Amino acid sequence: MASQSFNDTFLRACRQEPTEYIPVWYMRQAGRYQPEYRNIRKKYSFFEMSEIPEVCVEVTSLPVKQLGVDAAILFADIMTPLKPIGVDVEIRSGVGPVISNPVRSIQDVSRLGELEPEKDVPFVIEAVKMLTQQLSVPLIGFAGAPFTLASYIIEGGPSKNYYKTKGFMYSNTKAWHALMEKLGSMTITYLQAQIRAGAHAIQVFDSWVGALNQEDYREYVAPIMQKIFSTLKQTSDVPIIYFGIGAGHLLQEWDKLPVDVIGLDWRTSIQSARQQGITKTLQGNLDPSLLLAPWEVIEKKAKEILDQGMEHPGYIFNLGHGIFPEVQVETLQRLTDLVHHYTKK
Ligand code: CP3
Repeated sequence: MASQSFNDTFLRACRQEPTEYIPVWYMRQAGRYQPEYRNIRKKYSFFEMSEIPEVCVEVTSLPVKQLGVDAAILFADIMTPLKPIGVDVEIRSGVGPVISNPVRSIQDVSRLGELEPEKDVPFVIEAVKMLTQQLSVPLIGFAGAPFTLASYIIEGGPSKNYYKTKGFMYSNTKAWHALMEKLGSMTITYLQAQIRAGAHAIQVFDSWVGALNQEDYREYVAPIMQKIFSTLKQTSDVPIIYFGIGAGHLLQEWDKLPVDVIGLDWRTSIQSARQQGITKTLQGNLDPSLLLAPWEVIEKKAKEILDQGMEHPGYIFNLGHGIFPEVQVETLQRLTDLVHHYTKK
């Protein structure tokens, strides 16, 4: 694995060890903003791209070569492990995951199977192995968190207010906890397989959990997150990142969980998280919409965020959410250079 030129800056920042500069990577750094991605995507469906290890490796590596980022993230989707357990999901371009057999009852929950990564998602394991042999930066493996996966499984697709999900949670509480347990076990098994194959760090995406207030998070979600993270910590020491959108009000709850890094969206500044007493490594959080602004605007905001990040050990620059298809590759190249040069000791 670690060849002589292996750049471990990102892993050092996760562990709050000194680094020469602030590391950077971007959520959705492989995607439609890249002409190369769009060309490959013309030939394959989203799932085909991630299920052919050679294509997955190419797409995962592209941003490392093109942007010079300090970490790669496996090209897959949070929905990837759900297909083999019985969720009929398709990724529609510009829409997101669409599910033809949503879960609406305890019977629906019980028909979901168990994931056997080696048998069900061998392409993920193969791609992780190939990538960790080839890359000169760490590979981030990932999974969706149970609430966020459940929101797609229950709604049947993307949603604005998650009322079907929350309705299910409040009215079929037993079935809800059974669903959390099932998705939680799947998440553990899936992440452990990625770690065994060589993933250097793990990010758990709980993108939509900010829809819950603190009390409901504590009751309906925190127990399964505690179980996932503590089980992973018992079996491996790879850094764990936990990320969500609009989840600033859950920071105190997240801080109690055995994770190394908290990923923030742009609504919660790095400074305000520190002022709230969060001492874990922080990752984020430039508003991705800013990437459509003139360079001077981007530069000013990025420097403000970097100044805040550098005040405390353990900081990784990223966006507050994924890159949009309209963003120019050159903007991200310039931003990556700015982060590296501005923070170099
Ligand atoms: O580069 C990377 O970040 C790694 C790959 C990755 C994808 N999805 C690829 C993808 C990762 C880490 C994800 C996570 C993911 N998927 C999340 C959590 C992060 C977040 O965005 O909140 C969620 C909620 C999903 C579900 C999902 N899949 C959405 C909302 C979409 C976007 C719909 C669209 O077209 O804008 C997808 C599709 C998807 N996943 C694309 C990519 C590159 C676009 C697919 C295409 O080419 O059409």
